[in-house]
Amino acid sequence: MQHDFMRNELIVQKKLNKHDLKKFIRLIWSTDLSKSLLFIGLIGSVLTTATQLMIPLVTQRFIDGVELDFFTPKMIAGIIAVFVIQVLLDAMSNFILHKVGHQVIAGLRSFLWKKVTRLPVKFFDQYASGEVVSRITNDTIIVQNLITSFFPQFITGVITVIGVFFILIFMDWQMTLVMLIAIPLVTILVKPLGNKIALISKEMQDETAVFSGKIQQTISEARLMKSSTAEPYEKEKGKRGINRLYKIGLKEARYMSLIAPLMYTLMMGIIVLVIGYGGYRVAQGVMSTGSLVAFLLYLFQVIFPAVTFMNFFMQIQKAAGATNRIIDILDEEEEPTEVGEEVDITNLPLHFENVSFEYTEGNPILKNIQFTTNPGEKIAFAGPSGGGKTTLFALIERFYEPKSGQIIAGTIPVQDISIASWRRQIGYVSQENAMMSGTIRENLCYGLPKDTKISDDELWKVAEMAYAKGFIESFPDGLDERIGERGIKLSGGQRQRINIARAFLRNPKILMMDEATASLDSQSERIVSQALNKLMEGRTTFVIAHRLSTIIDANKILFIDNGEITGIGTHEELLSTHPMYGLFAKQQLN
Ligand SMILES: Nc1ncnc2c1ncn2[C@@H]1O[C@H](COP(=O)(O)OP(=O)(O)O)[C@@H](O)[C@H]1O
Ligand SMILES: [Mg+2]
Repeated sequence: MQHDFMRNELIVQKKLNKHDLKKFIRLIWSTDLSKSLLFIGLIGSVLTTATQLMIPLVTQRFIDGVELDFFTPKMIAGIIAVFVIQVLLDAMSNFILHKVGHQVIAGLRSFLWKKVTRLPVKFFDQYASGEVVSRITNDTIIVQNLITSFFPQFITGVITVIGVFFILIFMDWQMTLVMLIAIPLVTILVKPLGNKIALISKEMQDETAVFSGKIQQTISEARLMKSSTAEPYEKEKGKRGINRLYKIGLKEARYMSLIAPLMYTLMMGIIVLVIGYGGYRVAQGVMSTGSLVAFLLYLFQVIFPAVTFMNFFMQIQKAAGATNRIIDILDEEEEPTEVGEEVDITNLPLHFENVSFEYTEGNPILKNIQFTTNPGEKIAFAGPSGGGKTTLFALIERFYEPKSGQIIAGTIPVQDISIASWRRQIGYVSQENAMMSGTIRENLCYGLPKDTKISDDELWKVAEMAYAKGFIESFPDGLDERIGERGIKLSGGQRQRINIARAFLRNPKILMMDEATASLDSQSERIVSQALNKLMEGRTTFVIAHRLSTIIDANKILFIDNGEITGIGTHEELLSTHPMYGLFAKQQLN
């Protein structure tokens, strides 16, 4: 059985180019990095590198013994002092550059996280959650490595190479030209390898994200896996992902292992060339032994930066790839929650005007929905499952926008009202009994403004109204009982009652209940329904009924079948006019 989960990954398979690099730099620059710190760090690097550049020059004097009296005790003390200061300065500027790097990463992660919290429901329908997580954690780590370790090395490397180049030109320009042969050689031999590795590692990132997405899904539905005895299947599926990652890893290793020996051989070649040519010049008497030694020391000084450059260019391509995905997420359209008017919707009627909706193009779920509710009314929705009732609630909650038609509050189309102000006035108890991990108290107060003080008395009151007081009291920690991830330690009915209590606490103008009392026994359902009735006074309530007994008293019942309203009326009216409703009633009410 080939059961494929979401293969709707955030992957853009395109070649990396200059444009990506520009985007990367713009992205880095847009984070809240301190430009003055960056500047100070760079100055520190320049100073330390400059000091290090002096070492071969001092050595040269030492060897050639031109002025032996140059090394007086005072001079030696001075040199030691300079070295100590140099070490301190180096440490300080390293720290500062790392700090800037961490600022960039913190900035990127904040951008991403804020973005993800503001993306519309549509986005979360589309992508596996584990994959998005991987984007926020793994992809930013790549950028972090680049910025915190490779970037400082690169900067000091550049300074060293430029410094060495000028000193050498000044010392002996012919020898310098011999060394420069290395540059085209490195470019021809190593650069294509670097490009290849960058592409492979991009593939690695994508595959890692897909893999994370899949295992996270399995882990979060561990019970389903167990009860379906799907462990062998999951084991195989995981192994496939692991194997794919293994193969990509091997491919990367193959190219990576070529780079070091290549660079090494190249460098040895250059050293042999320099010693040979230099020895010849020393023999000719054109060059001093001291100069040759200094030359070699400089050569050693640039070997390390040369290797870091290779790494840096590879890393920057990797990071550009990671940036692409980060930017993909950052480019997703946000929900404009704050845009629009603040409107008090108390006592406003709600009109659905010819509303149609589809999740996917050409697959209509709701068709020409048309109805009006008056403030304070209880409106119920009934009909076969899959008919579109929950979807209609999602439209009222404004998780999605209608494809055509509109919803109007009073005289104002809802799209002119700010989403934040709209949702604040709606209490929504959804079908899934969704819970956050944490305590009962945190779940009751979830989403309320930070500075709202809610007393225990108030919490107990709403808990009592929702028929939740009894079981909360029985927990050792009461309101502060931890309920596990997604409230796993509570029963479905308990979760539902906490959600209802939560809706009570928010004191909404519109209350929406999606089969909200479905997992209560009839005893507690009666009590919760009474509480609901009390709560409904003066506010509009939408109820999706799982049992007709809970909606007999509704002001209006809308029968939704296959995305269309096939009947509107009171229970009595529908009984006599709507055959399918009659059938429903006959099955359930006696
Ligand atoms: N997020 C979604 N993406 C795509 N299709 C969906 C989504 N949610 C529900 N549907 C589809 O919409 C239809 C109506 O579902 P729903 O509104 O949940 O019905 P009801 O609540 O009446 O049982 C179903 O055919 C379902 O497959
Ligand atoms: Mg439903």
